Amino acid sequence: MINEQEFIARRQRLLGQCAPNSVCIVPAARLVTRSRDTEYTFRQDSDFWYLTGFNEPDTWLLLSNHDRHQQSFSAMVCQPKDASQEIWQGRRLGAQAAIARFDLDEAYDLSELPEVLMEWLFGHTHVYFAQGQYPHADAMVHEALKTLREAPKEDCAPPSMHDLRPILHEMRLFKSASEVAVMKAAAKISAAAHKRAMTTAQPGVYEYQLEAELHHEFAMAGARSPAYATIVGSGENACVLHYTENSKVMEAGELVLIDAGAEYMGYAADITRTFPVSGKFTKPQKDIYNLVLRAQQNALNFITPGVTLKDATLRVVEVITEGLVELGILTGSVSENLENETWRAYFMHGLGHFIGLDVHDVGNYRIDGEDRPLQPGMVITVEPGIYISPQASVDEAYRGIGVRIEDDVVITATGIDILTSDVPKTVEEIEALKQ
Ligand code: GLY
Ligand code: MN
Ligand code: MN
Repeated sequence: MINEQEFIARRQRLLGQCAPNSVCIVPAARLVTRSRDTEYTFRQDSDFWYLTGFNEPDTWLLLSNHDRHQQSFSAMVCQPKDASQEIWQGRRLGAQAAIARFDLDEAYDLSELPEVLMEWLFGHTHVYFAQGQYPHADAMVHEALKTLREAPKEDCAPPSMHDLRPILHEMRLFKSASEVAVMKAAAKISAAAHKRAMTTAQPGVYEYQLEAELHHEFAMAGARSPAYATIVGSGENACVLHYTENSKVMEAGELVLIDAGAEYMGYAADITRTFPVSGKFTKPQKDIYNLVLRAQQNALNFITPGVTLKDATLRVVEVITEGLVELGILTGSVSENLENETWRAYFMHGLGHFIGLDVHDVGNYRIDGEDRPLQPGMVITVEPGIYISPQASVDEAYRGIGVRIEDDVVITATGIDILTSDVPKTVEEIEALKQ
């Protein structure tokens, strides 16, 4: 649980990194139409959530460190209390209650937004705002700036505009102890869902039915939604990296690749496991599976503060290339294959990514053109895979096999903590589930 003090401290830390006389403008997400007058389930903007923990659409957070204020001054613009709207669309907090709930200095109704933006921009030197994120927000901010610039009084419009995201996203990249605790909970829920899928999978079941098993487990453990579209790919579908149709019947003898994670209190888990539909690996499946597992273990042993994701990728690529040569899937020497990067035909995505409020989380992977060393507080995925196209010119036994193994790890002062280790991973552990 992230407490109110932590949200307040984040807002202060953000303002502290802005130039003097700055105003930050952070709009919430809006509802998105699904069809005609129905909308997709609301999902808050991650930056807005990070600074407020407030789940209403059409809200704006305003922060100022203008020297007419002490250190920081904060406000929200909220959807108005409206009895008839609330009967149809749900309860709203309203401006008055927002002041106490978020420890703000001021709050306003959404109808006042044009004037509020002008008042808040007035007399500041810098604006921090994520231009291009939301067209409606761009239009509102630009209109307010235009009006101020056209006003007869000089120097009332801020002359400089900055992107808020570099500061905010660098903050989000380093998870606090309470964020790590929430991510552990997301991982635990997701791990239980993967175990449920492993034990319930059987020939004749549709991929989307296995998806339903996962989502049921998420919800029953307190996580209403997945953090991204669940992938359940059986047989050759495992070779389609972002397969989300999930429409095929699973068959005996096939592997099924499940990439699924719950979103819990805004934070994502991202787990992939690949296992046999009917419980037992065939020899070629086991060959590929154990190679991916070895590659992942190598990366997990290697990752520690100070190393880069790129260094870890190089190790994984070596292990995969050696293994593919041993299996005869690649021909020629290991060094030739490494030189020619032939592994790219079988391992075509990155080794991992930052994860947090977004499954592919924010944060720069490179700084000043250099790969960035991993540091304590960063949370990443480690997800090597091998995907052998059904058309590949290799021994027929290997064609159409796709395997990915993905875990989430937090970088600690001394190494890593694997958040998702509750899910069976070795061939023996997986096969034992179905005996
Ligand atoms: N689930 C998306 C990914 O693994 O990056
Ligand atoms: Mn991932
Ligand atoms: Mn994934």
